[in-house]
Amino acid sequence: MQEINVKAANFTYRVVIEPGGIARLGRDLRLLLPPAKTLLVSDTSVYELYGEIVEKKLRDEGWQVSVALVKPGEKAKSLVNAARLYDQAIRDGLDRNSPLIALGGGVVGDLAGFVAATYLRGVPLVMVPTTLLSQVDSSVGGKVAVNHPRGKNLIGSIYPPRLVLIDPVFLMTLSKRQLKAGLAEVLKYGIISDYQFFDWLELNMDQLLRFNLVLLTDAVAASVRNKAKVVEADEYEKDYRRILNFGHTIGHALEAATAYRHYLHGEAVLSGMYAAVDLAIKMKVLSTEDAGRIDRLLRQIGRRKAPADLTAEAVIDKLRQDKKRLAGEIFFVLPKTIGSATIVAISDRDLICEAVKTVLGK
Ligand SMILES: NC(=O)c1ccc[n+]([C@@H]2O[C@H](COP(=O)([O-])OP(=O)(O)OC[C@H]3O[C@@H](n4cnc5c(N)ncnc54)[C@H](O)[C@@H]3O)[C@@H](O)[C@H]2O)c1
Ligand SMILES: [Zn+2]
Repeated sequence: MQEINVKAANFTYRVVIEPGGIARLGRDLRLLLPPAKTLLVSDTSVYELYGEIVEKKLRDEGWQVSVALVKPGEKAKSLVNAARLYDQAIRDGLDRNSPLIALGGGVVGDLAGFVAATYLRGVPLVMVPTTLLSQVDSSVGGKVAVNHPRGKNLIGSIYPPRLVLIDPVFLMTLSKRQLKAGLAEVLKYGIISDYQFFDWLELNMDQLLRFNLVLLTDAVAASVRNKAKVVEADEYEKDYRRILNFGHTIGHALEAATAYRHYLHGEAVLSGMYAAVDLAIKMKVLSTEDAGRIDRLLRQIGRRKAPADLTAEAVIDKLRQDKKRLAGEIFFVLPKTIGSATIVAISDRDLICEAVKTVLGK
């Protein structure tokens, strides 16, 4: 078992990482709260795979479980679904000490987290992330949100969980495509904040891509440690936390320009990292040697091709609408060396256009 303690503004929470660790859910939750009612939130696919075992582990320890399911997919992160969850929480008589348990990927975590943050002005939130992306990223750090028809994550808060229980065995049922999308975020930590981990990834990427459980467990733990380090330094994203957006500036624009239908989030981020490396070389921020090493790992995970009709102009339009843009310039996180990054404001449209074109294949 690996345990990481994350300091949030008002309390410290444990992230427990262990293959087979789901067995400890009911017990670990008892360390925090006396057994009472709880609402288990999941999507129908995840629930079909793991709902029964998770419910059993909770009931065995005296928790009374009611279940709320949403359809799989990004559309589930809506105010309509949040309202449905409030209705159910009220109907089932959940009170201030009744934990909400998010069993699923980032969609379920963000939605359940948003409801936990707001129902009765906040009830305990427990994350049981089941995708690689949610295990290494969205379950830690406290960002919770739902989408608005005009944009992703427009309605949300910072609301840290009380416990994160990560069972890497869940990853064994992911598709290869989902695994790769998660590995893009894993690699991100190596590039921006952890040279040793990057080295390790160079040695082990091949096995990670083959679902090696032992190595995936270590990769998740190293990623969570890196995320925790950044989030502890800047929980409310005043400055330093922005380095986690490496690959995300262009990544988000690619997702938006394709109406969130073509790329998985991690796939768009992987493309965004290519573009950021291109910018970093041209801005003379990164050496060609380090760029070469980064490029090799990005290629090993493999980039999803852009749709043939996607233009650089369409991507740049979305880039300018990104909510993280201040004044006229666009901020990019660029690697400086392997293991460190810097934030640079760029206003040269041609330079940005060239970087975008590197991932459009035009
Ligand atoms: N809060 C944050 O800090 C943060 C960070 C990054 C991303 N996010 C959000 O996370 C979301 C994306 O999360 P995601 O990539 O986990 O997607 P997801 O939650 O949509 O899950 C992807 C798919 O995998 C299925 N699935 C989940 N676990 C599985 C398993 N173990 N085996 C088989 N199938 C499984 C799901 O049913 C779903 O169809 C986005 O909405 C994004 O905005 C939030
Ligand atoms: Zn991301």
